Amino acid sequence: MLNFDYRNPTHVVFGKDRIAELDQLVPANARVLITYGGGSVKRFGTLDKVKAALGNRTVFEFGGIEANPKYETLLQAVDVARKEKIDFLLAVGGGSVMDGTKFIALATQFDGDTASLLHHGFTPVPVANDKVIPLGVIATLPATGSEMNAFAVVSYQGGKYPVNHPCVYPTFAMLDPELTFSLPKIQVANGVVDAFVHVLEQYATYPVDARVQDRMAEGIMRTLIEIGPITVEEPTNYDARANLMWSATSALNGMIGTGVPLDWSTHMIGHELTALFHIDHAQTLAVVLPSLWRVLKEQKHAKLVQYAARVWDITEGDEDSRVDQAIDKTEAFFKQVGLPVRLRDHGVTQDQLGLVVDALEAHGMTALSESGKVDLATSRKILDMAW
Ligand code: NZQ
Ligand code: ZN
Repeated sequence: MLNFDYRNPTHVVFGKDRIAELDQLVPANARVLITYGGGSVKRFGTLDKVKAALGNRTVFEFGGIEANPKYETLLQAVDVARKEKIDFLLAVGGGSVMDGTKFIALATQFDGDTASLLHHGFTPVPVANDKVIPLGVIATLPATGSEMNAFAVVSYQGGKYPVNHPCVYPTFAMLDPELTFSLPKIQVANGVVDAFVHVLEQYATYPVDARVQDRMAEGIMRTLIEIGPITVEEPTNYDARANLMWSATSALNGMIGTGVPLDWSTHMIGHELTALFHIDHAQTLAVVLPSLWRVLKEQKHAKLVQYAARVWDITEGDEDSRVDQAIDKTEAFFKQVGLPVRLRDHGVTQDQLGLVVDALEAHGMTALSESGKVDLATSRKILDMAW
């Protein structure tokens, strides 16, 4: 196992009918800015319940944070937060709202050029701890894990930029599966696949004898395989949705990624596909991951053999054929929950693939994967196979 540090300060408040507890979770005299997206929280009544629970606190609202939140939109919220001297942010929404709110938390008291916060990659941004506005989240879409991690992804000038800082772990994450019953089917399918791929990018690398992490990862994946199709078809099945929600949070709260090699290549290539062609985040992953494995199966051989056996019960035949079957099963699972698995199904043409490679180059994504060997030519191979 590799060396690691692990600390996750987010207080998880899981289960139904808990919005009233916001009164204990948000500081009593806070000036609160509630942030939300395109309006689902208004349409389904969540916002009213949140405001009622906040009682006499001074509350402001900022709506309109779009999917794949844009820097320019978030700056408008930063203006509100500065002007109204906000000292607590409350995000109510999916990954985009939660991520956007983390950026607002970092940018509001930042003295320099706020766009510079987007250029630190996976290194924490240079912001002093006491210059971050604390935030809490009410997650309405189980997918990204943003509710219990310190990462955000912000869209800016045709790219998607990761931003992180330990002080943007939400102080609390309210996870009520019932708040997700109103999701359109496709967003639920997106959530299943995003969570599944998060697990795999912390698992399908090379073995380091990290048995706890491996078995937790396998447990989350088996859970998603069991409940994924059910929760897509039965939106009000509480137990299925509760299991999706906790799987998605557990997939990216740092726990299964401790002490193991990581490979975020699928996400990095996927981000370019979203930025260029506006394909939903999870749908880019469904397209890239199986092709990436087909190209890198030698590098990932030992873990893919383990994955085949422990996640899909594939133990017959030689190792290469077990790996091939596991890749096919993974792809079939993505299709089963309702996501396309080829770029052409998203209307991308073959001559547009060069644009993706150019964008990877422009964003410095030239040595991806756990080996650092995925150069631009290899990414092109992956994209050709994914087309
Ligand atoms: O905007 P509203 O009206 O709220 O509608 C949203 C949006 O249209 C809707 N929605 C959310 N909750 C709903 C609902 N509709 C009905 N009922 C509800 N309960 O769903 C749509 C998509 O929302 P969005 O937040 O964009 O989706 P998701 O949660 O998949 O987030 C995607 C973003 O997260 C980033 C992605 O890059 C993307 O920008 N990621 C963040 C990560 C992190 N912080 O660790 C990791 C991920 O890999 C990912 O990169
Ligand atoms: Zn993701």
